[in-house]
Amino acid sequence: MDDIDLKDFLPLKGRKIVVASSGSVSVYRMPDLVRDLRREGADVWVAMSQGASRLVSPELMKWASGHNVAVEITGDIEHISLIEDREDVLLIVPATYNTIGKMSSGIADSIVTALFSHALGNGNRIIAVPVMHLSMYSNPIMQRNLQMLREMGVRIIDPIEAQGKAKIPLSATIVDEAVRASASAVSGRNALVITGKGHAEIDPVRLITNRSSGETGYWLARALYRKGFSVTVLGSVPRELPGQIKHIPAGDVGEFFDKARSLLRESYSVVTLPAAIPDFAPERSTGKIDSTSSFEMKLNPVPKLVDEIRKHHKGLLVPFRLTSESADDTFRHFKTSRPDAVVLNYYDTEGGPFGDGKCRFIFLTPDGKKTIIGINKEEACTSIAKEIAEMVK
Ligand SMILES: Cc1cc2nc3c(=O)[nH]c(=O)nc-3n(C[C@H](O)[C@H](O)[C@H](O)COP(=O)(O)O)c2cc1C
Repeated sequence: MDDIDLKDFLPLKGRKIVVASSGSVSVYRMPDLVRDLRREGADVWVAMSQGASRLVSPELMKWASGHNVAVEITGDIEHISLIEDREDVLLIVPATYNTIGKMSSGIADSIVTALFSHALGNGNRIIAVPVMHLSMYSNPIMQRNLQMLREMGVRIIDPIEAQGKAKIPLSATIVDEAVRASASAVSGRNALVITGKGHAEIDPVRLITNRSSGETGYWLARALYRKGFSVTVLGSVPRELPGQIKHIPAGDVGEFFDKARSLLRESYSVVTLPAAIPDFAPERSTGKIDSTSSFEMKLNPVPKLVDEIRKHHKGLLVPFRLTSESADDTFRHFKTSRPDAVVLNYYDTEGGPFGDGKCRFIFLTPDGKKTIIGINKEEACTSIAKEIAEMVK
């Protein structure tokens, strides 16, 4: 009986992923990872080296995947039969020092290394996640082996380096890599996503800010990465981003301007702004304002960040506009920045536009083409990333 709860939006629907685990202690994370991949819509099959099967029971992985687990090669020639289609993805996680060494030297004496030998020749997408102590990970043999595998087209996901270990990354990091491997991707393009709420300081302890959550930027960054972009995020997001996405935090309005200018010394294929930068800011008091009496505060307009971006950015520019109206004047509203497209974000949706609830976005281009996209932010941002990928091709 299958008791998996699928998400509303399934980026891995129709995809088969073979998770091949070798004997690292982090195999304890595999039941969760396999369930996470299935919740994204993937059909997941598991193979385990003898070392992995001594650490975590194949029975548990059978429950997690909903399929029999291969721990050795039998008369069913599992190393061939598990990967039938060129579209199937082989995910070697965790990949031990031993398994990486064997993969790069053409040794196939476990189900994991034999699957690799078949997938490499068959032209399947292969992703490997090395996990071990840092002393092993950083040694020159390991680094040479990883480089050799990269040159053969294997995607190596960088581990998280902490407490003397090269640790397994977030599930979201691995999920995004699997989606990217499965999707028709753009290559050699980079994107800057400016997101979340900005604030203006009233005095050293008080702020003016807004209710933007950064949820849209979080999903747009992931969606662009999944499409094949290199992605940098400037601003705030509601939870940790996958490790392949560079995150530069910003909060204060001046910080957004300074960091955006500095980032734009590099050129970007696209800059998009699902951000809420304050429109007004007070004169900042240097001391804490006395709370025992009333005071008057004058709010001055803040220059538009999108206009400043346009001064330094020649590529595609896609700002967001929060609105409740038909927004026929959208491109007049952005007359200084001349965007290539605008995403209209309607704040009269059920539950409001903030956080991870429902959303209503329209992707609008200057020639009047309107695409209505999405029910939730992950799905909507996937559609926006698809539109952007079409435009940069
Ligand atoms: C509890 C335990 C944890 C281990 N963790 C790791 C690890 O994180 N990374 C690694 O490269 N080897 C680790 N090893 C060593 C490997 O299991 C060993 O090198 C084994 O030969 C790997 O075989 P395999 O690659 O076929 O699974 C661990 C061994 C044990 C017993």
